[in-house]
Amino acid sequence: MPDLDKSDEWNRGAYLVTGPGHCGACHTDRNILGGEQEDEFLRGATQENWHAPNIRGGEHGGIAHWSHDDIVAYLGSGRNEHTASMTRMGEVVEFSTQHLTEGDLGAIATYLKSLEDTRRDASDPPEEAVLQAGQATYFDNCAACHHADGSGEAYMFARLAGSNKVQSDDPTTLIRIILEGAQAIPTNDHPGPLAMPAFDWKLDDDQIADLITYMRNAWGNNGPAVSASEVADLRETLGED
Ligand code: HEC
Ligand code: HEC
Repeated sequence: MPDLDKSDEWNRGAYLVTGPGHCGACHTDRNILGGEQEDEFLRGATQENWHAPNIRGGEHGGIAHWSHDDIVAYLGSGRNEHTASMTRMGEVVEFSTQHLTEGDLGAIATYLKSLEDTRRDASDPPEEAVLQAGQATYFDNCAACHHADGSGEAYMFARLAGSNKVQSDDPTTLIRIILEGAQAIPTNDHPGPLAMPAFDWKLDDDQIADLITYMRNAWGNNGPAVSASEVADLRETLGED
């Protein structure tokens, strides 16, 4: 049902996101019966060992720092200056959103930018020793591509400073990308993607936990600490697949 107080473009975006786009199927948390919870709409959810982050674009939303055009570029070309589409979202861009018209992508962006969220509570600062250990691991293994200040390299290596995925409460995707590596999907606009190597053989659970806790609390980021047992659990689950 169109909302007559809103523009045609907003209504088109609402229709695409909640209807044929199925964005909530992955980005909205479910209740025990498997139904999407209305008050959790697009606030992030975890399925099949991937966390799809909060994609509300209004104030305090997960992608509040993305502009309207950033959303259009990400969904239409697989990349913007913050990040690239990978993993399960790579499939969504590859098979679905890159084939939409500019008008439809703009409508989705207008709709997502209208969704505000509540301000998150700041998480407690981690122990200094953890931050130092995490920082050392970061410098040795990650800074060559993502840079010492987490700024990344626009259109090549995702920006980690300010990243929604780095700061999201649920670290599943973050742990998994470090264990397995990552590759942005090739799209018509960006055919030759760069790859991030896997670190599962190189870094142990403590090192990865400290590394993530560091990244979540460096460069202006803020997010809860991650424990070695969370890393160990995911490593074991993925090993069973
Ligand atoms: C099959 C599951 C799935 C569906 C359907 C899906 N997404 Fe995603 N999405 C993910 C996952 C998982 C991630 C995080 C991992 C990644 O970026 O590769 C993600 C990441 C994103 C991001 C990047 C957020 C960031 O901070 O980097 C945006 C934006 C996004 N999705 C928008 C959408 C929109 C809009 C739709 C509907 C058209 C949609 N997604 C449908 C699974 C999905
Ligand atoms: C050889 C270069 C390279 C190295 C080294 C590297 N990465 Fe990456 N990283 C990438 C690429 C390429 C991507 C995929 C996204 C893209 O193409 O922008 C990526 C993606 C990520 C993402 C997802 C960001 C997002 O917005 O979705 C995270 C988090 C990340 N890397 C963390 C790390 C960490 C932590 C290390 C060190 C253990 C590391 N990377 C080492 C190249 C690298």
